[in-house]
Amino acid sequence: MAVYQATASAPVNIACIKYWGKRDTKLILPTNSSLSVTLDQDHLRSTTTSRADSSFEKDRLWLNGVEEEIKEGGRLATCIRELKRLRKEVEEKDSSLPKLSSYAVHISSRNNFPTAAGLASSASGFAALVASLAALYQLPASPSQLSLIARQGSGSACRSLFGGFVAWEMGSKSDGSDSLAVEIAPREHWPDIHALICVVSDDKKGTSSTSGMQRTVETSTLLQHRIKYVVPERMKAISAAIRARDFEAFARITMQDSNQFHAVALDTDPPIFYMNDVSRAIIALIVEYNRVSVAAGGKLKAAYTYDAGPNAVIYAPKENLKEIVELILNYFPQAEPFKDPFGLFGAGAQGKL
Ligand code: PMV
Repeated sequence: MAVYQATASAPVNIACIKYWGKRDTKLILPTNSSLSVTLDQDHLRSTTTSRADSSFEKDRLWLNGVEEEIKEGGRLATCIRELKRLRKEVEEKDSSLPKLSSYAVHISSRNNFPTAAGLASSASGFAALVASLAALYQLPASPSQLSLIARQGSGSACRSLFGGFVAWEMGSKSDGSDSLAVEIAPREHWPDIHALICVVSDDKKGTSSTSGMQRTVETSTLLQHRIKYVVPERMKAISAAIRARDFEAFARITMQDSNQFHAVALDTDPPIFYMNDVSRAIIALIVEYNRVSVAAGGKLKAAYTYDAGPNAVIYAPKENLKEIVELILNYFPQAEPFKDPFGLFGAGAQGKL
């Protein structure tokens, strides 16, 4: 008897231009375009196996071995439904294919990092889920087409369908058909850029991105300014910086955009604080590190960015990483550094940084 099963894996991505705000909460259409780097090391990945079988009674999903409910009309159900719909189209064109679209699926997904650590697990999770079902159904869909579906799982997930430097174009259509991820440059274009992740706290975040965004859209006037006047220019400028491998410009824009995202969170009523004192101390350290370099006639050497939580991601050219890790260890001596075989550093401190 044939077994219909496929496995796919997707990494986390960390945004340099942040997505924050939905103009359509059901289709997950953003209020601004965004741009991220997909991390390409073995850390921070989700791996998902999907199996279709005529004997399965209903769609089921396990996350790290624990079954999760697939709520009717929820995001998981939407992604599964959309992929089954695409499979059905393929089956209608070729009647010799098994009718997998009519079978229920069982899906098992694992993260190789703590799910609640505020490290964008929903991005890699939904991207891996969509990629594994697309492989199971042998869909002739491009990563951009699949990103339309992953977006409906978790907005930022659409960017994890590509490696390297990826933009999520907000689009303008109300059906969401042009709100998709596109590659700005593959990883090989600029292999010198590395990401250092400083786990400041692995607690689950206080305000989820969904409720935080909704509150910001409803109450922040700064968000309206950001959407209209700031992000469109930044998207162009950072794309150009990536194409030109201009770290100076890339770093400046990345830090400015992280700052503005957290300013918009603060401008929300009631205000949202994602960073803590340790996060701010790391910002001060990177600012000073860059200041000393520029004062000596050099260039910016590192860029910090923070998502909806206190953990820092520091982008830097490889040659500066050792120095940055030493600097962090000097100021946060309790940090427990680890180094993977590929040269990506991480300072994991489990709340002790
Ligand atoms: O896709 P979500 O709902 O997890 O939202 C992600 C929001 C940020 O991580 C703060 C920014 C981004 O662009 O990834």
